[in-house]
Amino acid sequence: MKLFLDTANLEEIREGVRWGVLRGVTTNPSLIAKEKKGFLPLVREILSMVDGDVSIETASDDTDVLVRQGHEIAKMADNAVVKVALTPNGLGATRQLANDGIKVNVTLAFTPAQAILAAEAGAYIVSPFVGRLDDVATDGLRLISDICEIFTVQGYDTQVLAASLRHPIHVTEAARLGADIATMPFKVFETLVRHPLTDSGFKRFTDDWEQAKPHLGELPPSMQEG
Ligand code: E4P
Repeated sequence: MKLFLDTANLEEIREGVRWGVLRGVTTNPSLIAKEKKGFLPLVREILSMVDGDVSIETASDDTDVLVRQGHEIAKMADNAVVKVALTPNGLGATRQLANDGIKVNVTLAFTPAQAILAAEAGAYIVSPFVGRLDDVATDGLRLISDICEIFTVQGYDTQVLAASLRHPIHVTEAARLGADIATMPFKVFETLVRHPLTDSGFKRFTDDWEQAKPHLGELPPSMQEG
């Protein structure tokens, strides 16, 4: 399962890239607005920083306008993916964009039926929202499970991107259920690496090493540096 950051914050993306595990980024109008920066320079910077798909959301519910926006977004870079909301007009635009060879991420999917529509419209990615379903007392992970099962049975190529993830269990369960991609805020991304036993274990190894070092004889040069 590929790990994406759900952010438009350059510092967070830089840190994710530094970890060597970041495979892409998703943005949305709310995340872009939060950064208080010019849209084009911000988006171009994100596209250049990430070696992987970057989803950029359209801003219309008119099929023709969506298609024009999709073409403009796709032209920005090879890794630009056009994000379109799962509405009837959005599906129509997805079909046209897919026919033109443009990668579309159909977003705001809350039912398996909607995900089937996205796949049938030729979406490159469909984004079911886990956390927002949990918020309304509906099992968000069950949606991921249902969509993954249906897509396997049907042989759909559309990638399932588990979105709106709120904690590390969402991420590990999305992986277990067969999601192709998980996108998450940086604070969730960070929780994936942290464990108190890792920290205390690393500290003990480091302390023992420092104590033993003077008695270990010749060391490879880089191990002398510590
Ligand atoms: C997906 O691409 C969306 O940007 C995102 O995951 C929404 O999540 P939220 O429910 O945390 O806003």
